[in-house]
Amino acid sequence: MTLSRVKVGVVGLGLVGDSHIRAYQAHPKAEVAAVCDLDAARAEAVAASYQIPRWYTSYEEMLADPGINTIEITTPTLLHAPMATAAARAGKNILCEKPFCLTLAEGEAACAAAAAHGVTLAVGESYIFMTPIMKARALIEAGEIGRPLQVRQRFGSWIERPGALETARPITADHRGWRMDSSRAGGAGFPWMFDHCVHFFATAEYLMKDTRIGEVYSLRSDISWMNARDGGSGHAGMYRPENAGDIPIIAWSYDDPACQGVWMRAEALTGKYDPMFGFSVSVIGETGMIEVLGEGGRGLNWQGQDVHLVLHRQGKDTLTFRFDEGGDEIWQSEVSYYSRAHLNQIHEFVAALTSGGAPRYLGADGLRDVRTTMAAICSAREGVPVKVRDVTDRRFEA
Ligand SMILES: NC(=O)c1ccc[n+]([C@@H]2O[C@H](COP(=O)([O-])OP(=O)(O)OC[C@H]3O[C@@H](n4cnc5c(N)ncnc54)[C@H](O)[C@@H]3O)[C@@H](O)[C@H]2O)c1
Repeated sequence: MTLSRVKVGVVGLGLVGDSHIRAYQAHPKAEVAAVCDLDAARAEAVAASYQIPRWYTSYEEMLADPGINTIEITTPTLLHAPMATAAARAGKNILCEKPFCLTLAEGEAACAAAAAHGVTLAVGESYIFMTPIMKARALIEAGEIGRPLQVRQRFGSWIERPGALETARPITADHRGWRMDSSRAGGAGFPWMFDHCVHFFATAEYLMKDTRIGEVYSLRSDISWMNARDGGSGHAGMYRPENAGDIPIIAWSYDDPACQGVWMRAEALTGKYDPMFGFSVSVIGETGMIEVLGEGGRGLNWQGQDVHLVLHRQGKDTLTFRFDEGGDEIWQSEVSYYSRAHLNQIHEFVAALTSGGAPRYLGADGLRDVRTTMAAICSAREGVPVKVRDVTDRRFEA
């Protein structure tokens, strides 16, 4: 049903909640009608600071609020699919943060509930709503590099802006710390990979013009030396991916056998010299190549200039692009991620709900990227390439 106005209830008021509230409030056809968090003081404070009329500590009570037609889910991952299913049954449209689900069965159930109740179910996949990544896709679609053949993703350190997260609530098991705990973040012992690979695979398919990934092969490494050197505790330890799953390289092939991709990161991310930070991607095509910055990205340089996207074309001038969106509120970054990608996606979601269109990253897309992520983790565990279609919950949880 087309809405004249999106009246959203946001559940989960942690790190990412603020940027989502601001994005809805910045859209003329949307408003945040209520917020919900288990932490009553937090819910009350967020409602007061953003002038949101109602706040709840019970999700069920917020779902029963007739003044809400849409639910935004920004809670820990184990709650995503169950909360999405409950919202669909209550007749609310849904934007659910990634990763969409812990198991394929619960993700399928949420998609089925949305279809049965005629509501829109979108999944928060901010990487493919980053302005530079969307520009890369537009250049590829315009034929600037010919047929895209290979995607190379490079992951360096993310560097926090001084003070950006120090003002946030302290990290505890219930607040942000759960992301390194497989029982709440998923991943069968690889929680960081489960939390982040969905981004990497969504981007890999988006920049291959939606060609799907068919098979993945992950390498493991021995990181005991690094843990012995650094310890695994404290803020940095909690967030270091190598402390929560030792997969430094993933390679994949697409359904088109001419196309392939790779994701890689250096082992000792903190303290290792690396001129490029954050997430960056190269897309190699038949007649050209794109290099582009993503989350927390900086250090892309062309002929002495700091740039955000470089387009090399056979027989034509090289073009460069910058996207000066005011930087990022969390990362020391050349491009805007938390500040802008989430807003881009939420505005697309609101535009779809108020025009009768469909958002471009739906529940089925979130489910597919979870399945591909499971394939990558199965591959690391089993030491063999894994076809995405062969992944089942049973194999993943084994
Ligand atoms: N796309 C992105 O760039 C991006 C960035 C950050 C986080 N995320 C995703 O967003 C989600 C939230 O992450 P975060 O870092 O904001 O987490 P967080 O730990 O900072 O916040 C989670 C909040 O949910 C609340 N909560 C937990 N159970 C609840 C319940 N039953 N009812 C109501 N509230 C409840 C907690 O009290 C907490 O305030 C995660 O799935 C994460 O993967 C996505």
